[in-house]
Amino acid sequence: MSPRTSLALAAALLAGSASASPFGNGKLLLTGGVSSIDGAAGGGLTPWAVTGSYATGAQMGATAFATRVRSQDYGLSAAGAAVGFGDRAELSIARQDFDTGDNLAPLGLPGLRLKMNVLGAKLRLAGDAVLDSDSPMPQLAVGLLHKRTDAGALEPTLTGPLGARTSGTDVYFSATKLFLAQGVLVNGTLRATKANQGGLLGFGSVSRSSYRLQPEVSVAWLLRRDLAVGAEYRAKPDNLNDSVLGAGALKEDDWADVFVAWAPNKHLSLTLAVGTARLLNRSPTMKRLARTALALVTAGLLAAGTHAQPAAAADDSLYRAFGAQPGLVRLMDDFMARLLADARMRPFFKDADQAALKKQLVLQFCEVSGGPCRRDGPTMKEAHDGMDITRADFNALVEVLQDAMDAQGVPFGAQNRLLARLAPMHRDIVNTP
Ligand code: HEM
Repeated sequence: MSPRTSLALAAALLAGSASASPFGNGKLLLTGGVSSIDGAAGGGLTPWAVTGSYATGAQMGATAFATRVRSQDYGLSAAGAAVGFGDRAELSIARQDFDTGDNLAPLGLPGLRLKMNVLGAKLRLAGDAVLDSDSPMPQLAVGLLHKRTDAGALEPTLTGPLGARTSGTDVYFSATKLFLAQGVLVNGTLRATKANQGGLLGFGSVSRSSYRLQPEVSVAWLLRRDLAVGAEYRAKPDNLNDSVLGAGALKEDDWADVFVAWAPNKHLSLTLAVGTARLLNRSPTMKRLARTALALVTAGLLAAGTHAQPAAAADDSLYRAFGAQPGLVRLMDDFMARLLADARMRPFFKDADQAALKKQLVLQFCEVSGGPCRRDGPTMKEAHDGMDITRADFNALVEVLQDAMDAQGVPFGAQNRLLARLAPMHRDIVNTP
């Protein structure tokens, strides 16, 4: 395989992926990431600490995905499925089919297809990437990706003179954090791997058969509830660089892309990614940068294991962004009407004293947004005691609130700043697994 081929693999990543989730839908839109080409939930190239599907609490969920990567020189198709057990664990399966085009014609292997099956398992260890917005503590997960490749007519060369194996297991540790007030999601993944070109060219080589730690970083910016743009970088070990085909003949470049992910609803998400390795492809520099970024992300995120109190409002700009008192009264009128119209929320609110509740909510939102009010009354724990509120209920209420804020024209940035102050209350309000 020529160096041009491996460069192209990282160079022109153009992927369209679709996923569907038929079961539990207790999470907020896009907070489960999308499906990576290896099948685990994350970005397109790298697994995150989130679990796929919208299942949360005791729910189960499933996703399916299909991805097509195209360049002038090759084509890669990937398809797979994942099952999520609450937001605790995920099992995934994926199949990749890499069409080498004419790149291997010099080896007498034109049109060769490399196929790979990937079985994945991921376990969330701690943290909540979305709702713990008062703490830098990220969501943490460990995962395995067991891969078996079928290199067809290339296999004798791959397992013979090149010294690669046809199966291998990647082990990774991921930390994911949504900085809700800013609408920015950051993920750092450290992967121990022997894989060549993600495993499509086997695992290890004559000269390098041990595991190597590779950093991966993703950053995504939420433009709207249903739309995110971002960038990803995934370092790769370059085991085959020194092969019998000559130094550099099988040089492996790192992968990078920029992407747009759109989730028109909870049953479908579409991701368009364009590889930028041709621009970024200075492996040592990028690797150093990625390692530094990863170290900063992880150190910053891990530094605070303790939960700070919700950020005290330093000024009243957020209160004003909500239209001050008249704006909050209008918002709560609309919010209450929507809560009663929503099949998930109606059972909770239909018997409540709505006028009194609206008054309390206006007071609370005024105080939380930095306005000149103080709410006296039961604590959040006392107020919601005995209501059997699950995490899915909590997220459903947030969705209804988002709809009301949209309808009242509250800017998306202001919505997120307020939600970041409300989200930590989940610890006192959610009282049922
Ligand atoms: C960040 C999220 C939430 C906030 C800020 C919030 C805030 C409040 C406040 C201020 C009250 C009035 C307490 C009082 O003074 O008596 C209240 C009551 C209530 N909350 Fe929540 N709440 C949240 C989430 C939820 C969720 C997820 C549910 C159920 C799914 C829920 C159901 C209720 C009900 C039914 C009452 C009225 C109880 C009554 O008066 O009969 N809340 N909430």
